[in-house]
Formats: sequence, structure tokens, C-alpha cells
Amino acid sequence: MTSSGRDASLRPYRAGDLADLYDVCTRTGDSGDDATGKLAQPELLGDIFVGPYVEREPGLAFVIEGGGRAVGYVLGTADTQAFVGWYSSVWAPRFGAVYAPPKGPPRSTEEQLLVRFYHPEQMLRPELAGYPAHLHIDILPPYQGVGWGRRLMEVFLDAAAAAGAPAVHLGVAALNESAQGFYKRLGFHPIDVPGAEGALFFGRSTSR
Ligand SMILES: CC(C)(COP(=O)(O)OP(=O)(O)OC[C@H]1O[C@@H](n2cnc3c(N)ncnc32)[C@H](O)[C@@H]1OP(=O)(O)O)[C@@H](O)C(=O)NCCC(=O)NCCS
Repeated sequence: MTSSGRDASLRPYRAGDLADLYDVCTRTGDSGDDATGKLAQPELLGDIFVGPYVEREPGLAFVIEGGGRAVGYVLGTADTQAFVGWYSSVWAPRFGAVYAPPKGPPRSTEEQLLVRFYHPEQMLRPELAGYPAHLHIDILPPYQGVGWGRRLMEVFLDAAAAAGAPAVHLGVAALNESAQGFYKRLGFHPIDVPGAEGALFFGRSTSR
């Protein structure tokens, strides 16, 4: 714990936060560790895990502000099926000239991300249908471990419930044991999703 980690505040997302959120996403994007320099296309993580959410559902995005910038966030959708439809028809087509769709089976993390970018329908798993919302949460290391994750999760749960979602799911890298401990502590239970390589899924009610 650091005093600077506590010296921050939680507020709704604003459009001016976008670059900070892309930065947080990259700096926590390697199973919770820093992914800076690990991708040839550095914006790819943010274009998958930040941009579409804050554009389509900004009311479900909240940030931790510390030192004059956003240092953590939670964001997501209340309706994964509708989100996937919008992502396919509106979001992904904008990037045709930026990201080449992968040919053949993915051979790297970057190619796996490109498959995810071009096949958002992979988010629609029958085992997750009872958990229509989903979320992403990331906080820079100096602000971890002092309660901001719990507070972000609580505001997201309330906002998703108000938006009509009775339950929420999330995916986490199997390697990211620390985040799994956090999710279990916050009342999430594992959801068995066969064939989800390298990922584990958790879910819970949005009621608290
Ligand atoms: C995962 C993450 C969002 C958690 O946020 P955080 O601010 O560090 O967590 P908090 O300090 O709010 O902890 C909340 C509770 O979870 C508990 N907790 C946190 N990590 C835990 C762990 N690994 N095992 C068990 N409990 C844990 C805390 O003790 C605390 O319990 P309490 O509120 O009952 O006292 C944050 O550490 C992070 O961004 N990590 C890097 C990026 C990442 O992995 N994101 C998730 C990708 S799927």
C-alpha cells in the first residue's frame, strides 16, 4: 500500500479520459502485467477492451483519477448480445485499413487478439447467456490493493443493474491468479465454459 494509491478519487468516465484508459489497458494488458512493447500494433488492446465500450455505453464506465489523470477503470456492457451486434456492424468495420484479419490459426498473442477483434461473436457462449452484462477492470500498480477495485466493481454492479442486467460475467487469463482471487472475494463464482483456451470465466448477480 502506498499513500499515493489512496490519494485518488472515483468518478464517471469523461471523453477526455480515453488516451489514459488506453494506456492503463496496455500497462495491465499482459495477464495483469505490462504489455508495453509486446505488440507490434500497440493500440490493439485498447481498440478491443476500451474503445468500443466507452463509445457505446459511456454510462457504464467509471475511472479512478490520481495525479491528474485516469489511473484505473471499470467499463462494460449491460447486454453482451446487443454489444456484439454493434461491434460487428459498426465498430470493427472502421478498422479494416488498420488491422488485417488473421489468415489461418493464430500463432501469436497478437494474432489471437486479431481473431478476437474480427470475431466478437466468440463472446456469445451459451453458458454465459444467463449473465447478460460483462465488464473489464484494470488499475495501474501504484493504485492497486487499497480498495479501488472493490469500489469500481460496486459502481459497475449498480449501473448494470439500473440498466436492466440481472447478472454479469467476465473472462480472465488463466495465468492471472491475482485477479481471480479478487473476483472470488467480490462474490463471483466460476462458470464452466468448455473450449475457452487460456481463459476462465466468472459471474455473479448485479444485486448487492
Ligand atoms: C484486479 C484488480 C482490478 C483488483 O483491484 P484492487 O484495487 O487491487 O483490489 P482491492 O484493493 O479493491 O481489493 C478488493 C478486495 O479483494 C481482495 N483481493 C484482492 N486481490 C486478491 C487476491 N489475489 N486474492 C484474494 N483476495 C484479493 C482484497 O483483499 C479486498 O478484500 P476486502 O475488500 O474484503 O478487504 C487490480 O489489482 C488490477 O487492476 N490488477 C491488474 C490488472 C488486472 O489483472 N485486471 C483484471 C484483468 S481480468
